[in-house]
Amino acid sequence: MTILVTGTSGQLGRLVVESLLDRGVPAPDVVATARDVETISDLAARGVDVRRADYSDPSSLKEAFSGVDRALLVSSNAVGSRVEDHRNVIEAAADAGVELLAYTSIAHADSTTLLLAADHWATEQILAASGLPVVLLRNGWYVENWAGQIPVALEHGAIAGAAGEGRVSAATRADYAAAAAAVLTLDGQAGKVYELGGSPFTLGELAAELSTQAGREVAYRDHSTSEYTAVLVDAGLPESVAAVYADGDRGIRDGELLVESGNLEQLIGRPSTPLADAIRTLLA
Ligand SMILES: NC(=O)c1ccc[n+]([C@@H]2O[C@H](COP(=O)([O-])OP(=O)(O)OC[C@H]3O[C@@H](n4cnc5c(N)ncnc54)[C@H](OP(=O)(O)O)[C@@H]3O)[C@@H](O)[C@H]2O)c1
Repeated sequence: MTILVTGTSGQLGRLVVESLLDRGVPAPDVVATARDVETISDLAARGVDVRRADYSDPSSLKEAFSGVDRALLVSSNAVGSRVEDHRNVIEAAADAGVELLAYTSIAHADSTTLLLAADHWATEQILAASGLPVVLLRNGWYVENWAGQIPVALEHGAIAGAAGEGRVSAATRADYAAAAAAVLTLDGQAGKVYELGGSPFTLGELAAELSTQAGREVAYRDHSTSEYTAVLVDAGLPESVAAVYADGDRGIRDGELLVESGNLEQLIGRPSTPLADAIRTLLA
């Protein structure tokens, strides 16, 4: 059984490869792809089958998918222009006749109003039309999404956001990767839709946990969506990126990033990593 993972130069894709190896999949049966294979040369050194695959280059995808049985398409980070790239990958997977194609989508892709979800929903439509046996991994937020704010929060004694009292079912990338590896190695996954997320918390609870562990006061400072967009622009983000981030918090406030399916725990066979442990790792 040959299992291909795309985007393994990125953080999630690499963790999926690690999880597959941890589950006992022999390294030569794991195909790790990246558009620059130099970035994953350490995986080649460990016996993983490393292949070049650029989502924008169909010929590279055709070669990469040769002989592949199951595959995970890790969604591209090129927000707003990634649907055609995803289509190329899906077509290559179909041409190769894979028996299973998994895709990292977004929580509640079929109903959410998050700006970030449009590309994922469009990709899910392409997958549905492809006729391929598909499994959807609708990932919630990563806990690591707040990593960049932690030094600022510790310096200023406050973490900013626009999520109000909304709860977010964030989980670590490693937990989502373990779930993806489970899906790729289990049988009977075609047609399944997993809504994945960890134990929910408010941004106030995130700030409180940060305070406890850092030993200094960190408050949660709530803003309206437009105020928070301005805060992010002041911090140096381009307006369009700031608007997408602030919209993410708006989604938390409106309950769109709350996932109560229990699917993550079921797939990984243990509780998701507690917020306190995730923050300990981020602070270290
Ligand atoms: N759930 C969440 O909270 C959350 C947060 C952020 C992102 N995401 C989504 O989840 C995905 C995985 O997360 P991550 O943390 O692993 O992101 P990441 O570290 O930014 O990795 C993104 C991966 O996509 C690859 N990629 C982009 N365009 C490509 C192309 N044309 N051809 C081949 N590979 C391409 C990148 O390759 P290069 O190294 O060559 O650039 C990289 O390997 C992201 O791409 C994004 O869609 C989810």
